Amino acid sequence: MIFGRVKPLDAILATAEKKSLHRTLGWFQLTLFGIGCVIGTGIFVLTSAGAQKAGPGLMLAFAIAGAICIVAAFCYAEIAAMIPVAGSAYTYTYSTMGEVLAWTVGWALILEYAVAASAVSVGWSGYFTGTILNEFLGIHLPAWLSGAPLALGGVEGGFINLPAVLISLLITWLLMVGTTESARVNAVLVAIKVTALTAFVLLTLPSDQFSTDKFNPFLPAGVFGGFGSGLGAVGAAATIFFAYVGFDAVSTAAEETKNPQRNVPIGLVGSLLFCTIFYILVAAGAIGTVGGQPILGPNGVPFPAGSEELARQCATFAANDLPLVCSNEALAHVLRQIGWSGVGNMLGIAAFLALPSVILILMFGQTRIFFVMSRDGLLPEKLSAVHPKWKTPYIVTALTGAAVAFAAAFLPVGKLADIANAGTLYAFMMVAFAVMILRRTAPDRRRDFRTPALWLMGPLTIAGCIFLFFNLPLDAMLVLPIWGAVGLLIYYGYSYRASHLGRGIIEVHEDEAVHGVEPKVPGTH
Ligand code: ALA
Repeated sequence: MIFGRVKPLDAILATAEKKSLHRTLGWFQLTLFGIGCVIGTGIFVLTSAGAQKAGPGLMLAFAIAGAICIVAAFCYAEIAAMIPVAGSAYTYTYSTMGEVLAWTVGWALILEYAVAASAVSVGWSGYFTGTILNEFLGIHLPAWLSGAPLALGGVEGGFINLPAVLISLLITWLLMVGTTESARVNAVLVAIKVTALTAFVLLTLPSDQFSTDKFNPFLPAGVFGGFGSGLGAVGAAATIFFAYVGFDAVSTAAEETKNPQRNVPIGLVGSLLFCTIFYILVAAGAIGTVGGQPILGPNGVPFPAGSEELARQCATFAANDLPLVCSNEALAHVLRQIGWSGVGNMLGIAAFLALPSVILILMFGQTRIFFVMSRDGLLPEKLSAVHPKWKTPYIVTALTGAAVAFAAAFLPVGKLADIANAGTLYAFMMVAFAVMILRRTAPDRRRDFRTPALWLMGPLTIAGCIFLFFNLPLDAMLVLPIWGAVGLLIYYGYSYRASHLGRGIIEVHEDEAVHGVEPKVPGTH
C-alpha cells in the first residue's frame, strides 16, 4: 500500500520539540553555511565536463540549474522550518506520502549524499595530484594509482584513484571519532574558496587573452543534445546541477535559526543566488580566455564527457596544451594557461583545503539519514548503535565511508556527479510534493516560513527536477530505477516487517543528543 503507513506528524513534531535547540543562527551565518556546503567540485572540477557537453553554453547551463535550485530551495525552506527533524526529505515523505515512498527517498538520498561525497573526493584528488604532488613536490603519481579505469570513463592506464580513497577514509575516521566542523572553520574555508574564485574572475575577465570570439559558436551541441546523450546546454545543466547540491543542508539548520520567516529564505536563496552569479562569471572567464569548445567526434557531435573516446583524445595533448575540457583541475589549469601559474597553484591549494569540508558535510548528512532510517526500524537497529566513547553512530559511519571510498576508487567524477544528481532530483521533487500535500492536509499547523506562491513554485520544482533528470546521460538515468528496485527488494524482504510503525511502535525520540549523537549540522556552530 503506497499511502498505507504514514508516520503521524504529531510524533515527528514531538521529537522535534524535545530537541529544543537554541535559535542562534542569523541570515549571515546561514548564508555562509550554505556557501560552505555548495561551492566545491562542481565549479572547481566539473566545469570541464560541462564545457565538453555545452561549450560556451555552459554559462546558460549554470543559470538553468541555479534557477531550478532556487525554486526548490523555497519549498525546502517551508517544510524544514515546519518539521525540523533529522532525515529531511525522507522524514517529510514519511509523514505525507507514507513509508514505501519514504523508503525510496531515503534510498535515493544515499545517492545524493554518499555518491556526491565520492564525487567530491575524486574532484579533490585531481587538485591534490595536479597541484600538490606535481607542481609543488614534483611527484608524478602513476596513472594506475591516480584515476579510474578507462573502461569506466577514467584515464588511459587508470586502475584506482588512491588519493580519493585516502581522503574519503580520512574523513570517515574524523566523523567516527566525532569531529564536527566549527562555524569558524567553515567561515575561513568559505573565505578561502570565495577569494580563490574572485581572483579567478578578476584575472580572467579583464585579461588580454579574453575574447568574445571564444564564445562562438555559443551552443555547439545545441540546447538539447538528444535524449540520453547528456549533451547540449540542458545536458550540461543536468550535470552542473551538482555544483548546487548541498544547499538542502541549510534547510536542516532552519530549526536553529532566529526569525526563520526572514532568515531561512535569505540564507537559502542568498547563498544560491551568490553561487549562481559567481559560477556564471567563472564560466565566462574560463571560456573567454582559454576557450571551452568541446572535442568533437567524426560526426561533428561532442564525445560524451567521461567516455573512453574522449579520454583517448585528451591523452594526445601535451600537458601544457591541454584543452579545458580535458583538465582535472579546470580552474587552476585556466590560470596556468594564461600566465598566472602562481595564482593557479594558490587556487589549487584553496581547493585542496576546502573540498574536504564539503565531503565531511555530505558524509555527515548520509550517516544521519541512515541513523534515522534504522531508528525507524527500516534498517537494522544495530546500524544506529552509538559508540560509547566517541558518541557517534560509528557503524553507519564506517559502512558509509567504505562505500564512498569504493565508489571514489573506481569511478570518474563526472559519472559520480550525474548519479548523485539523479538521486537528488528525485528527493527534491518529493519535497515539493510533500510541501503541497501538507498545505492541504495540515493547513493550520504552525509554519515559520511559507513558500511564496507555492502552487506555482511547487509544480515548477517538480517540473524542473523531471526536466533535468531526463537530460542526464542514459546510464545515470538508469541508475535511479535500478537502485530503486534493489531498495524495494530490501524493503519488502526486510524493512516492511521490521518497521517500527508497522509493528505499532510510535516513538518520540528523546533527541539524538541524549543518545550522544551530535545534533548540529557541521559548520553551523
Ligand atoms: N555542490 C557541491 C560541490 O560542488 C557538492 O562539490
